[in-house]
Amino acid sequence: MNLQKIVVIGAGTMGSGIAQWFAQQECYVELVDSSEAQLEKAQRDIYSSWDKLAEKKKLNNPERLKKLLVTKKLEDASPDTDLVIEAIIENLEIKKNLFKNLDQQFASHTILASNTSSFPIHLMAEAVSNERKPRFLGLHFFNPATIMKLVEVIKGKDSSEQLCRDLYNWFDSKDKKPALCKDSPGFIVNRVARNFYGEPLRIVETDDENKMKEIDAILKEVGGFKMGPFELMDLIGIDINYSVTCSVWDAYEKEPRFAPHKLQKQMVDEKRLGRKTKHGFYKYD
Ligand code: NAI
Repeated sequence: MNLQKIVVIGAGTMGSGIAQWFAQQECYVELVDSSEAQLEKAQRDIYSSWDKLAEKKKLNNPERLKKLLVTKKLEDASPDTDLVIEAIIENLEIKKNLFKNLDQQFASHTILASNTSSFPIHLMAEAVSNERKPRFLGLHFFNPATIMKLVEVIKGKDSSEQLCRDLYNWFDSKDKKPALCKDSPGFIVNRVARNFYGEPLRIVETDDENKMKEIDAILKEVGGFKMGPFELMDLIGIDINYSVTCSVWDAYEKEPRFAPHKLQKQMVDEKRLGRKTKHGFYKYD
């Protein structure tokens, strides 16, 4: 497998990190978003991150990487791309609609992948042609994508086994730790992690910052976690985390242990979405 040309769709928290990581692997990357403002912000943030790494002598020649990562409108993306990764809003119908168009726009050899946190790969694959189905799979990166090593390689019902192994080996040859996963709700990490978020929410019950700080501190100091659950939910995005909670809960027929907490919905309604809106469980400058 030789991945050289990548298109990343969605320039939010995940898409911008994924695009940055691929450019750092010397791939040519086209980053796409429906929001011009988001695209400009992502490009600014990535370039500034490379400049800072260069200042610290952790990166040579950031100008070369800047040439490898360009922003585009979806209709202008190169059709003969090796891999397209979708990292847009966590909404099944919107994702399916996008994949239907991507199937038509990109060459028959192009691999289509979703970075979904929770939707079954086989449901999204319904949107593409039978010819494309073997080249459709899940590639689930973790936040921040430039730093977190794990990539879940998710084989859908019709994804080619060989393709999944080739991608596994490709990531393994880079600085990632891939894991081959079944197409089950929440895959591995988002299933296990549900209780890391749900139980602390049930412990605090209400929007009480002192209790949240206490729980974050306990889990970091005693549990050894790098981030506490409330800090991590703010980093992920309250909207994304809420929608993943709901879809895993639905997929497991509303088992109580996966149930969302009323505070999550309340915060989404109030647009307190975490770090990206500078206010979640905590406030940010
Ligand atoms: P985000 O809300 O930060 O960014 C989503 C971006 O998609 C926005 O910039 C928006 O303008 C754009 N967008 C929405 N609809 C679009 C369309 N039809 N065409 C092009 N662009 C469109 O979301 P985030 O956090 O980056 O999540 C993206 C995906 O990655 C979701 O599926 C999420 O479940 C998944 N994910 C999120 C993680 C996290 O920690 N936030 C971790 C791993 C996966």
